[in-house]
Amino acid sequence: MSGRLTRRRVLGLAAIAAAAGAGLTWELSGARQVGEMARSELALPEPFTLPGTIPAVLEPQRQDSTTDYYQLTQLRAHVQIIPGHLTEIWGYNGLFPGPTLKATRGRTAVVTHRNELPEPTVVHLHGGHTPAEYDGYPTDLLYPEGSPAPTMDPDDPQARITQGSRDYVYPHQQPAATLWYHDHRMGHTGATVWRGLAGFHLIGDDIEDSLGLPREDYDLPLLLCDRSFGSDGSFLYSGMEPGHHSQGMLGDVVLVNGVPWPLYSVAAARYRLRWLNASNARVYRLVLHGTHREAPNFIQIGSDGGLLGAPQHLDAFDIAPGERIDTVLDLSGYRVGDELTVVNDLGTGSTVPVLRLRITRTVTDTSRIPDRLADVEQIDTRTATHRSFDFRQDRARDAWLINGRPFDPLLVDADVKLGQVEIWRLTTNFNHPVHVHLDQFQVLSRNRRPPRPTDLGRKDTLNLGASEEAEIAIRFGDYTGRYLIHCHNLEHEDMAMMATLVTHR
Ligand code: C2O
Ligand code: CU
Repeated sequence: MSGRLTRRRVLGLAAIAAAAGAGLTWELSGARQVGEMARSELALPEPFTLPGTIPAVLEPQRQDSTTDYYQLTQLRAHVQIIPGHLTEIWGYNGLFPGPTLKATRGRTAVVTHRNELPEPTVVHLHGGHTPAEYDGYPTDLLYPEGSPAPTMDPDDPQARITQGSRDYVYPHQQPAATLWYHDHRMGHTGATVWRGLAGFHLIGDDIEDSLGLPREDYDLPLLLCDRSFGSDGSFLYSGMEPGHHSQGMLGDVVLVNGVPWPLYSVAAARYRLRWLNASNARVYRLVLHGTHREAPNFIQIGSDGGLLGAPQHLDAFDIAPGERIDTVLDLSGYRVGDELTVVNDLGTGSTVPVLRLRITRTVTDTSRIPDRLADVEQIDTRTATHRSFDFRQDRARDAWLINGRPFDPLLVDADVKLGQVEIWRLTTNFNHPVHVHLDQFQVLSRNRRPPRPTDLGRKDTLNLGASEEAEIAIRFGDYTGRYLIHCHNLEHEDMAMMATLVTHR
């Protein structure tokens, strides 16, 4: 314990709540919270006193018959998160979360990112079916304008390096889904996402539009993340100091769309709540508590890759870093003044409360939740190719390994033929949310048993508990090049828990 603390540079942290040298660990029916929590050093607001917000929507600069053109600038900014304090963030357009892109299936988006931050960045559209050159491979750096930048990376000659600004092209040949974009720079993703580089990217389509689901003011994207604050209001981050084998950074403040434990004023109507866990390492188990009458269930309508075949009721659900759970909450039977609270059953103390909804008005609600949502193809696995990926820690090498090796951009860990169905066996001896780029997968089994309810639909991130295993079926399509499979605990990712997947025809 003391050895660990002296090895670690404690960067202004008054205290790190680290239990028993191995970091904080607690277990609750399978799910497990791991990581090191930094304690905030200032007075925190009372939960459910600050008004809830929805991220701004980014309008295209121009449009033509096939394409929407957007511009984003990555900037430092100072924003008020804790009342009475300013926090320096790194944000897309200086916002945290970044503005929401609303895209349409089949229409291309060209997003021009300009980097005005002090360091290079990489943009990844998480869940996007994206050509490799725009996918945000961790060495495809965008250097800030004016800073010295190499034209070539000697450690990875294939890296596509640019300076100033760069176009990311997203063809959006994929169903309606809740995606998100975030930084993905090799070795730095934990720190840069913690500073604020994350936002929603929603894809809509005709199928979704025809269903009559709650929309517009009744469609709320909710980005969950945890942060801790120094006495001056700054974000505390100590995840990646040299020699410190991080299990993942945890904060003691739960933010929803950048607001601590917000209170949303809502109508007595159906709401679509699109949950995204953009935390570095925190897993949430979300549960509803009614303060005036019995709480309704969450009705899950979608997961990472889009709508489910049919809605399903969930009393509670787990959501790990990178995952999205798309739900509808039916508040139509509620009266003005009623309240509902969402809590995190995997949290302790200040990380239990999440948000509160207060019914402040009645409306005529014409939305509905049809019994059938989308057609989700069952992947035919009869002629599948088999592979396995084992996620394991190597303390001696200060790395988290996949199939025994740390990330190396010069190595190809899986060479995959487009169109070929693959069955992948994922194993682990620790808690890892496993994420695959380019295409979503179907979960075939968990621990040799049927998938869990929240494994249904198309997933791109699957939370594996310690000593769990899962089988997934996946078929990559359309685009050749370098992609990733990695752990979405961002500190594990930064400590090399990534592997390169190359697709070919
Ligand atoms: Cu959300 Cu490879 O990442
Ligand atoms: Cu991990």
